[in-house]
Amino acid sequence: MTVNIDWNALGFNYMELPYRYEAHYRNGAWDQGGLVQGNELTLNVGSPALHYGQSAFEGMKAYRTKNGTIQLFRPDLNAKRLHDSAEKLLMPPLSAAQFLDAAMRVVSANADYVPPYGTGATLYLRPLLLGVGPNIGVAPAKEYLFTIFAMPVGAYYKGGMVPTKFMVADHADRAAHYGTGQSKVGGNYAASLQAGKYAHEHGFGDAIYLDPIQHRYIEEVGSANFFGITKDEQRFLTPKSPSILPSITRRSLLALARDRFGLDAEETRIPIDSLAQFGEAGACGTAAVITPIASITYNGEVHQFGDGGIGPMTQKLYNELTGIQFGDVEAPAGWTVPVPLD
Ligand code: PLP
Ligand code: COI
Repeated sequence: MTVNIDWNALGFNYMELPYRYEAHYRNGAWDQGGLVQGNELTLNVGSPALHYGQSAFEGMKAYRTKNGTIQLFRPDLNAKRLHDSAEKLLMPPLSAAQFLDAAMRVVSANADYVPPYGTGATLYLRPLLLGVGPNIGVAPAKEYLFTIFAMPVGAYYKGGMVPTKFMVADHADRAAHYGTGQSKVGGNYAASLQAGKYAHEHGFGDAIYLDPIQHRYIEEVGSANFFGITKDEQRFLTPKSPSILPSITRRSLLALARDRFGLDAEETRIPIDSLAQFGEAGACGTAAVITPIASITYNGEVHQFGDGGIGPMTQKLYNELTGIQFGDVEAPAGWTVPVPLD
């Protein structure tokens, strides 16, 4: 079947596709789950996901290669991170096997919506785990719902690989030091809405958060991790913090920067007043891919990176990462997983 979509015009927008996956946890066990149609959920009004934020999610993509096959990028790490998020919120984790099987089935059933190779667009998968059922006290749910829905997407930040301005969020923390920042849970994003809205309204791509104790070290962007490349192009640095999301894209870039470009790649604390060490900086994530950071505004001052354009190392990392994801560049062992098509 051919579907009538202008693949090149896609942004990061919701679209309902024919199939999603759904599984239920009741009486102490996950059921087998399966594909369903329709994107409406019927939940008990007492569902802890609705009141107390007992909800976790993932973000991953399926990529169409030049020869028409479809592949996932490091889905085992999404399975593991959802497992970790679930444990943090006292939710029963799914097995990695069930998670991966569910992702494969959703992609395969919606294969017509995986954008063609060459458009840069991908099929975004959103796994979602919710505490449901009749409850009212602050306690974990007794029943859970897991679903994966999908939609074709283009760039998350306008234009994609386009230098974008960011601002440091004043008087707003995304996550607490001993809180849930490491987990991909709904509450972290609720906490980022105000600062994100302010940033958008003032012409910035997003807000950048500082550490919640001293407000001195860079944490991350509202929906992506941060990295910087030193002016001598020798070091790829990205924040070390207990309260940021352990980004799969960032872990991949650390490996590529080190193994393929010979950089000294490190997680370290990055003081906001040390931006002058960087010639290039970027926001990285599944949705953001690599979005070059043109400048960061902090305390009324604009710090521009290089000439505000796309830095040469940022471009190389982008080409390598997306080359691997779309199957044009040899992937490190186990990074890409083919999706069996029906
Ligand atoms: N940080 C936040 C807050 C995010 O929402 C995301 C997106 O998933 C990331 C970082 C990037 O993580 P990943 O590369 O695993 O998509
Ligand atoms: C992702 O990159 O997958 C995200 O989840 C980021 C954002 C859309 C919340």
